[in-house]
Amino acid sequence: MASANGDGTIAFGRVQMLLSKRSESIAFFGGKGGVGKTTCSSAYAFALANKGLKTLLVSTDPAHSVGDLLEVKAGPEAVEVADQLWVREIDPEEASYRYLNEVKGNMRGLAAPSLWKEVERQMDFAAASPGADEAALFDDMVSTILTAESEYDRIVFDTAPTGHTLRLLSLPELMSVWVEGMLARRAKTKELHRMWHNVAGVSEVEEPRDQVYELLERRKNRFAAARKRLLDEKATSFYFVLNPERLSILESAKAMALLQKYGVSTGGVIVNRVLPADVDGSFLAKRREQEAQYLQEIAERFSNRQQLHIPMQAEDIRGLAGVAEIGEWMNRNRFGSL
Ligand SMILES: Nc1ncnc2c1ncn2[C@@H]1O[C@H](COP(=O)(O)OP(=O)(O)OP(=O)(O)O)[C@@H](O)[C@H]1O
Ligand SMILES: [Mg+2]
Repeated sequence: MASANGDGTIAFGRVQMLLSKRSESIAFFGGKGGVGKTTCSSAYAFALANKGLKTLLVSTDPAHSVGDLLEVKAGPEAVEVADQLWVREIDPEEASYRYLNEVKGNMRGLAAPSLWKEVERQMDFAAASPGADEAALFDDMVSTILTAESEYDRIVFDTAPTGHTLRLLSLPELMSVWVEGMLARRAKTKELHRMWHNVAGVSEVEEPRDQVYELLERRKNRFAAARKRLLDEKATSFYFVLNPERLSILESAKAMALLQKYGVSTGGVIVNRVLPADVDGSFLAKRREQEAQYLQEIAERFSNRQQLHIPMQAEDIRGLAGVAEIGEWMNRNRFGSL
């Protein structure tokens, strides 16, 4: 697909090698809606698998399209779609249902039987509330991070448009704070109980195991472990896909600053849908003029990042063969950890 120009540059795109090679096991692909996240994350996962690395491509986008793009049937269970390449789409509704059942099961063990019905009613209300799917999605993402790493060499996340993903990545911190608050309150209640027993002179009574406390503690530990992986720059990278267009550049720059604030390490930048060098016509010439300015802006704004250009293709990218070609291009240019 790439061809050499007279001046020795490659018509397909260009790459700036500014970062030392990474060997991260978790890669996120994010960016504005429609810029090419699914295409690029799939191509990257394909290229990793092609190198013999057992790779899991996970979609956290509720409007999944990994299966559609690759023309494979994907669902909550990982399926092998090519040699060493596995795909799964987290289904928020299914995750929400599973999560709820797990919580209900836990609550049954904790609440008095006379309260079960009320507890279930409350849980069903909670399930229908805004944010419930997101919480379940987040829980699934945490599980994936904690379990898939031992099974796969690489995990690649295809994410939903920026805002949604940023919220998801900020959740480990929010959830930890929340759970810690609950734990502190729980500890205080226990302490009050103990004092009351002392005052009442029944201090010898052995305290029952506090299952709620243990449940919260386990949750806190899971979040903390996932957070540690997300914030470890050797383990996790967040790649931005953008188009040479004003809003796409602005959104990526903002998101990158926010991720930095959260401490998530951002990797390279993929500039997708760059006008190929050999298309002409006066309309395209004008677009190319404007695009040149945006490419310059991207080069400057993200100057400390690896940058890979992917040209606009004449046709839609379809199936494994379509992404394989882009994956090959990423590989040749040693994008990310390739
Ligand atoms: N370099 C390219 N040349 C031509 N078409 C492209 C290119 N990259 C992506 N596309 C097409 O653009 C459309 C959107 O791509 P993709 O689904 O990868 O974007 P996305 O960022 O994942 O979108 P969403 O935000 O909806 O998840 C698809 O039809 C895809 O085939
Ligand atoms: Mg997508």
